[in-house]
Amino acid sequence: MSAIPSFDHLAAPYRWMEYFTFGPLLMRTRLAFLEELKNSRRTLVLGDGDGRFTRALLSANPALHVDAVDCSPSMLRALASRAAPFSRRLRTHCADLRQWQPEAQGYDLVITHFFLDCLNGDELAALVARILPALAPHARWVVSEFSIPPRPRMLAGLARLLVAALYFAFRILTGLAVRQLPDHSSAFQRAGFTRLGRKNFLAGVLIAELWSAPRLA
Ligand SMILES: C[S@@+](CC[C@H](N)C(=O)[O-])C[C@H]1O[C@@H](n2cnc3c(N)ncnc32)[C@H](O)[C@@H]1O
Repeated sequence: MSAIPSFDHLAAPYRWMEYFTFGPLLMRTRLAFLEELKNSRRTLVLGDGDGRFTRALLSANPALHVDAVDCSPSMLRALASRAAPFSRRLRTHCADLRQWQPEAQGYDLVITHFFLDCLNGDELAALVARILPALAPHARWVVSEFSIPPRPRMLAGLARLLVAALYFAFRILTGLAVRQLPDHSSAFQRAGFTRLGRKNFLAGVLIAELWSAPRLA
């Protein structure tokens, strides 16, 4: 297994780096299904980052409890500070998600915003297999990711360049060993998940997807 990446020194500037590169687009992608999540009660946020989405989720849904997992102590501190008004409904776990095993059961929502791209295909399939037994029958899983649109060819080429540049930057900044987007759709489908919806941003270079766990399908 490759060394764990370190996002610690990015926790403070992360929001501004994002804003100067993509403006509000990543946040719009994260929030794409927020309205549909109002009935959720127990949520796992994997690779949470600095907590901007988790704060919005806790604020939008007063009955919801969150277990947030990230390997970066600084990211988790930023999350705890940002979501301080909702601290009674938030637990943080500092762990490597390539090995982490949920202790609790019955999660009805999983969130992975721009995190699955930190895993290779095998690590992603193993993560889905480890999380699946901890899910409630009606559980849903939200994915935000970069994507290479199949058409037109020029857009696909530009998207490939953008993704390669991002992986290069994160390799330098964090030591991330992964070099290409894993095929999360195939991994979810193989595990029995069904895609309920998909929203495109930036002409399909950014995608938000809502998946349902096998027992709901
Ligand atoms: C690209 S950032 C995305 C953060 C956030 N979800 C967002 O939407 O901006 C990836 C996050 O996943 C965390 N991460 C990366 N690899 C990890 C791993 N193997 N285990 C746990 N967390 C990891 C990083 O610390 C970072 O906070």
